[in-house]
Amino acid sequence: MTDKFIPYCLPDITEREIKEVIETLESGWLAKGPKTIEFEEKFAKYVGAKYAVAMNSCTAALHIALIAGGVKPGDEVITTSMTFAASVNTILHVGATPVFVDIDPETGLIDIDKIEEKITEKTKAIVPVHYAGQACDLDRLYEIANKHNLFVSEDAAHAIYTEYKGKRIGYNPQGAVSYSFYATKNLATGEGGMLVTDSKEIADRARVLITHGMSKNAWNRYGKGGSWMYDIEEPGYKYNMFDIQAALGITQLDRLEEMQEARENLVKLYLEGLAGIKGIEVQKVNDYTSKNAWHLFIIRVTEEFPLKRDELIEYLAENNIGTSVHFIPVHLMSAYKEYKEQSELVNTEMWFNQILSLPLYSTLEEADVKTIIEKIKSVPTTKKLV
Ligand SMILES: Cc1ncc(COP(=O)(O)O)c(C=O)c1O
Repeated sequence: MTDKFIPYCLPDITEREIKEVIETLESGWLAKGPKTIEFEEKFAKYVGAKYAVAMNSCTAALHIALIAGGVKPGDEVITTSMTFAASVNTILHVGATPVFVDIDPETGLIDIDKIEEKITEKTKAIVPVHYAGQACDLDRLYEIANKHNLFVSEDAAHAIYTEYKGKRIGYNPQGAVSYSFYATKNLATGEGGMLVTDSKEIADRARVLITHGMSKNAWNRYGKGGSWMYDIEEPGYKYNMFDIQAALGITQLDRLEEMQEARENLVKLYLEGLAGIKGIEVQKVNDYTSKNAWHLFIIRVTEEFPLKRDELIEYLAENNIGTSVHFIPVHLMSAYKEYKEQSELVNTEMWFNQILSLPLYSTLEEADVKTIIEKIKSVPTTKKLV
């Protein structure tokens, strides 16, 4: 057994983030304010979008994207089941029906070839997920969306830093793109999210909706020159980011390249060390992901491996190594039973039965990756679970 526990995930917080947060606390402005605006501007510039609207989660951003994209009760929205519940809950929150498309069996991403067969006269939008840090084939996706006049809300929770054919996800977005800054994400603010778009209409509507539906710039009503007068244009939500989160976000964005470099080095070690182990397959990276955010490092445990996937998880846990599974398909969860029937998600279910996410984060040590590889290489050959 290794002496120390290697967690599956840890955020990368340095003195710089701590200093920024303390300065914000001392500034007297804690709610949405100048730091949030600065973060939005820097983020928009970083991804190459015209507008960025900071929120308290990616879930909020996905929800607002669908509302601003005109999705209404009774509409159908195409997505993948190999995702976190947020991608699907937000479809249900606007009163629409999720329609699941199966995944590519080697990458785990939505199978673009199977989208058109699921389009009906009720289909209004597509929510593709840039799963694990790989890009969906956006050229083909937008070709289908444009042909059928569908709104696209990209779930880029895993894809800060990801590039599709040399351009960052979020570059010149045709619909809306939502990112997550949850504690486990590549850029972490604890909780937090961002919606980016090139549409002024979507950005303006999002800004109103995330502050109860208050008229524009309501955040500044307590500042110098701010007015006490506001109107509620429509009943909205309380989804805005606040300045302490933004202070973390600005510093993390500044450090993103450095943190990604560390991830990439660790991935290289994993790829070298796991190559040739019978029964361990690494998630295939598609050709058009020119930069992979490597949010997750996913392996598949196939029939040829001495242990089953669940046995390997248990064995690694016994050896002080934390792992996770991304994801339990949404359509298999109790809340979504009624949408299971419509879907033949053979690849999704097969993928789920084989996958395992190994620890990957910028502060993970090379020696830890080597230990994990050694443990996988030296698993007992007698199965424990039945
Ligand atoms: C694919 C995906 N979409 C959306 C979300 C929701 O992000 P948040 O926790 O910021 O709301 C997550 C969170 O893990 C996710 O993995």
